[in-house]
Amino acid sequence: MRTALVFGASGQIGDALLRRLDAQDWQVFAVSRLARPSASNVRWLRGEFGGIEDVPAAVDVIFSTGPLDGFSQWYARGPVATARVVAFGSTSLDTKQASHDAHERDIVARLQSAERLVFDTAAANGASATVLRPTLVYGAGRDQTLVRIAAMAKRMGFFVLPRGADGKRQPVHVDDLAAAALAVVDVPATHGQAYALPGGETLAYREMVARTLAAVQPAVRLREVSMPMFNLALAFARKAGMMRGLTDDAVSRMREDLVFDASPAQRDFGYAPRAFIVDAQAVGQG
Ligand SMILES: NC(=O)c1ccc[n+]([C@@H]2O[C@H](COP(=O)([O-])OP(=O)(O)OC[C@H]3O[C@@H](n4cnc5c(N)ncnc54)[C@H](OP(=O)(O)O)[C@@H]3O)[C@@H](O)[C@H]2O)c1
Repeated sequence: MRTALVFGASGQIGDALLRRLDAQDWQVFAVSRLARPSASNVRWLRGEFGGIEDVPAAVDVIFSTGPLDGFSQWYARGPVATARVVAFGSTSLDTKQASHDAHERDIVARLQSAERLVFDTAAANGASATVLRPTLVYGAGRDQTLVRIAAMAKRMGFFVLPRGADGKRQPVHVDDLAAAALAVVDVPATHGQAYALPGGETLAYREMVARTLAAVQPAVRLREVSMPMFNLALAFARKAGMMRGLTDDAVSRMREDLVFDASPAQRDFGYAPRAFIVDAQAVGQG
């Protein structure tokens, strides 16, 4: 029986990975800051990057599906021996590099140094690491984008976008990411590599929102307004304490293509993500 230590196991990607590991009969040590009940092949360990209760001395694979910066520092301290690390980063590394928002640039800097630390530590330990960078993640009804759009649309009975929100997007399903994390484990070509993991369909931001709204019951209308009108409405919403996470850069990115090439992942480990199909459960309305 192969063994895995999984960070971020209670998260949306981690949860999908746990199911797949369990189905393939792995012995899993899942880390959480909260106490959680263990099941047959999944033993929950309480802790975080500062320390973990009853952590095993060695495992076959360590998966990181939580914050990469904390994981990279924990891994560099070397508390658990392993020959294989699979860690999730983000395509934000590319899309937010030139952001006007200092907080977004800080995220990029932290992702970059965390990836570097993971690869350097693996090399120093004679281990192999692979970093997987998803685009916008959806599917578990717990993401910060589509679920928020659906919740707000349901509350208001409509949803507003600026005209021209036609930048291309490639939302990726959590279970395709979990499948990818398992698929790379035994593929030497993926050692020391980072892969963009976009979803299986490229569509305009507007279309992504329209399909999300189509999954909301009762029906919700999408209204498109001019950019100045949108910005005015956004300013009022922010004053009322809403929409603070929607930065000016995020609004301008609605018109930008954020598109990534899946072919290296297809070539090296047969990555084959599904098309963008959303139902009520996927947008937290099930
Ligand atoms: N969501 C996206 O759209 C997206 C896009 C691109 C890349 N990614 C990357 O994919 C990975 C997984 O994303 P996700 O959305 O599934 O995960 P997530 O919800 O951000 O986090 C997963 C789990 O990590 C643990 N965690 C969170 N903050 C922590 C902290 N400060 N210290 C220790 N543990 C912490 C939590 O588990 P406990 O509460 O049980 O401790 C949480 O359930 C991350 O590396 C993320 O950057 C996500």
